[in-house]
Amino acid sequence: MGVLTGKVAVVTGSGRRKGLGEAIVKRLAGDGAAVVISDIGQSADAATPDDMIGATDEMNAIAQDIRDAGGTASLKTCDVRNWKSVHALADHAVSEHGALDIWVNNAGIGYIMKPLLEVTEDDWRAVIDVNLTGAFFGTRAAAEKMVSAGKGGRIVNIASQAAKSGFPHAQAYTSSKHGLVGLARSAAVELGPHNITVNNVCPNHVTTGLGAWQNEYFAKVVGADSVEDYLEAMKNRIPLRRPGLPEDTANAVAWLCTDQAQYITAESMNVSGGEEPH
Ligand SMILES: NC(=O)c1ccc[n+]([C@@H]2O[C@H](COP(=O)([O-])OP(=O)(O)OC[C@H]3O[C@@H](n4cnc5c(N)ncnc54)[C@H](O)[C@@H]3O)[C@@H](O)[C@H]2O)c1
Repeated sequence: MGVLTGKVAVVTGSGRRKGLGEAIVKRLAGDGAAVVISDIGQSADAATPDDMIGATDEMNAIAQDIRDAGGTASLKTCDVRNWKSVHALADHAVSEHGALDIWVNNAGIGYIMKPLLEVTEDDWRAVIDVNLTGAFFGTRAAAEKMVSAGKGGRIVNIASQAAKSGFPHAQAYTSSKHGLVGLARSAAVELGPHNITVNNVCPNHVTTGLGAWQNEYFAKVVGADSVEDYLEAMKNRIPLRRPGLPEDTANAVAWLCTDQAQYITAESMNVSGGEEPH
């Protein structure tokens, strides 16, 4: 028996190897939850290039890892930009596992980075669409199921340090993540009477697939001699002297889903080794 045995959890964007979503879904399954691994599965357009998404074979492999470890996992492809697709994901959780108790809005893109004066209308919309609109659709679909079931629930957004501070070349990303703070606060007010908590987890840098792309990009922006030098400088400015790991975020999400966190809602919790003080 784990602390989440009997719970059913959905994690969007959890089908990419080395991602925060993979770590979260494995941690929730390890704590006993039946999990739905969800991702876009295949490239849909320029905003979802093949080398930056969780493909169907990766989703399957992550599910197999969980089953091999004795957990319960199912798969459902979902494009979080699509209202119907997100509602179908919530329907899947209930039809396949009998309930929906935990929803993690993790899907996000962070590889459309440009100086402000080069950002196009399409760039802006692409990022807001996945990172903010997708999280709203997820919150909306999950809340509908949770309110009608009447058993409470947990909604967690994977925001970012960029939900609290500004970053160069990241206008849309930073705005989308700041938007999650408002989304969680307003949803928490309405959903509190239903015993549904809504919180953000705000990691600093983690070298996931997305994070590795950012390492390359920002090493050039700051003029570092190498990615290693860029990461060394990052390490030295973090009070706990290392960048984040996927498990750091997964631990925070899992805790927010336990009974110990039952009185915590509308929060945006930093998981940043002390780098983000706000
Ligand atoms: N890596 C970091 O440094 C870091 C720091 C703070 C916050 N985050 C956030 O954590 C979350 C996960 O990022 P990650 O670093 O693990 O990267 P990742 O690329 O491994 O995961 C992002 C996932 O989102 C999925 N996705 C993209 N567009 C989608 C769509 N339209 N529909 C459904 N799924 C879609 C991708 O396929 C991918 O599996 C993101 O929201 C990101 O902004 C990452």
